[in-house]
Amino acid sequence: MSIQGWAVLLFLAFLSLSTIGSTIGENGSTSTTHHKAKGKRWALLIAGSNGYYNYRHQADVCHAYQILKKGGLKDENIIVFMYDDIAFNLENPRPGVIINKPNGRDVYKGVPKDYTGDEVNSHNFYAAILGNKTALKGGSGKVLETGPNDHIFIYYTDHGAAGLLGMPSDSDAVYAKDLIHVLKKKHVAKGYKSMVFYLEACESGSMFEGLLPKNLSIYATTAANAQESSYATYCYDDDPRVPKEFGTCLGDLYSISWMEDCDANDLRKETFGVQYGRVRNRTDESHVMKYGDMSHIKEFLFTYMGAAPLNHSYAPFKATLSESLSRSVSQRDVALLHFQHKVNRAPTGSHEKFEAQKQLLDEIARRKHVDYSITKIGELLFGTEKGSNVLTNVRPSGQPLVDDWDCFKMFIRTYESHCGKLSAYGMKYTRAFANMCNAGVSLEKMVAVSDQACSKKPHV
Ligand SMILES: *[C@@H]1O[C@H](CO)[C@@H](O)[C@H](O)[C@H]1NC(C)=O
Ligand SMILES: *[C@@H]1O[C@H](CO)[C@@H](O)[C@H](O)[C@H]1NC(C)=O
Ligand SMILES: *[C@@H]1O[C@H](CO)[C@@H](O)[C@H](O)[C@H]1NC(C)=O
Ligand SMILES: *[C@@H]1O[C@H](CO)[C@@H](O)[C@H](O)[C@H]1NC(C)=O
Ligand SMILES: *[C@@H]1O[C@H](CO)[C@@H](O)[C@H](O)[C@H]1NC(C)=O
Repeated sequence: MSIQGWAVLLFLAFLSLSTIGSTIGENGSTSTTHHKAKGKRWALLIAGSNGYYNYRHQADVCHAYQILKKGGLKDENIIVFMYDDIAFNLENPRPGVIINKPNGRDVYKGVPKDYTGDEVNSHNFYAAILGNKTALKGGSGKVLETGPNDHIFIYYTDHGAAGLLGMPSDSDAVYAKDLIHVLKKKHVAKGYKSMVFYLEACESGSMFEGLLPKNLSIYATTAANAQESSYATYCYDDDPRVPKEFGTCLGDLYSISWMEDCDANDLRKETFGVQYGRVRNRTDESHVMKYGDMSHIKEFLFTYMGAAPLNHSYAPFKATLSESLSRSVSQRDVALLHFQHKVNRAPTGSHEKFEAQKQLLDEIARRKHVDYSITKIGELLFGTEKGSNVLTNVRPSGQPLVDDWDCFKMFIRTYESHCGKLSAYGMKYTRAFANMCNAGVSLEKMVAVSDQACSKKPHV
């Protein structure tokens, strides 16, 4: 081999050596001379709801942003999806401010508004994960422009149901099968070194259970298992520390558990495994779960979230009540309680009270209608005795909710077109549709029974 040949080889060897040390530096410094070889931290934060009674989801997301920002992530690497109808909502007693705990600091300030209003949808969410700018519809254009050395943190907070997560529009949802498909695509595209996914929603375990492979280098934790509600907390009607005029819940239990844990600890020294234990312990109303690649539980939070210089005078939030005195509220019942509170609060005989009563009665009617129509459909399909057993059946753990996801989507669509939107409360029945698919019910049959159960089409 010629001298030049050796020189080229040596040069190549040097290049590959400099890529070997390509993890994020101990200090999280990512902008050094070996720029290409170093990994970056990226985050995508999303609140999938709107409406003042869902205050807490956007409060959670804003708080998460503050943690990452404090940890040293740059705005260009943090993508925020939030409807943005809370801070300046007429019902907000502190205009322009959002808090995530009683007497908490403003978490809204400085949050980048990448995707707001109708731009918060599943299409843009997938495009942002995949880094596909041309697929975006509106928004800031910020996407996960990540490569094989980067660490990605995704945090999603919203209403959910067996097999899906909500979006602000009632006709949109993130289905488990589609999300997993997107994550697999990102993996094939070598779009990350590793990924951590934190998920708050009812039945959030169903998004990963039996679906998230262990070999994608993704570690996920969820607020609840595949068959239970997740819980709102710091609610005005339960927790005396929350001023009544808020009329809403300020946070979600799993979410504030991981974030207040981050606020109070050194992210350089705490591993995901340790945080999982603490969060699981505090989230006592549901079962916090973990899925995917468990090798990441040994990593430090710092690897994904960065870390602020230590502040030894940090005073963690002290609960003045025992946690057990401050009940948490099932996410499914938050709307009902919100309207109830509005009725109680409005002056007797006022127009406001009249309107609030109407909203409350509408919500009660919607719930009754969903309960009735699903039960009826179950009876029509499987008989009066077996109906409810078939609809509520839970498959053994480790198995996905449903095998035929197209059937699942189609049945929900069929139900909604005959019987009206499921909405947050009705979403508790998505497992029933999965079970109809698993039992081999045909689409024709489903159309017929939906029509029969809901022949007087409600306008909800
Ligand atoms: C970490 O930061 C300190 C001071 O800022 C510096 O002296 C040290 O070299 C850094 N270490 C790494 C691994 O970047
Ligand atoms: C990006 O999205 C566009 C529009 O949906 C699609 O045609 C294109 O194939 C996507 N690009 C990649 C790399 O997936
Ligand atoms: C992950 O494992 C499954 C089987 O368990 C295999 O089919 C798949 O190809 C693997 N994927 C990767 C990216 O290694
Ligand atoms: C779990 O919570 C209890 C009560 O708050 C506390 O005493 C205990 O130390 C916690 N355990 C862990 C592992 O965090
Ligand atoms: C450290 O924490 C205290 C108490 O929370 C706060 O007043 C102070 O501003 C903080 N200092 C820094 C540098 O963040």
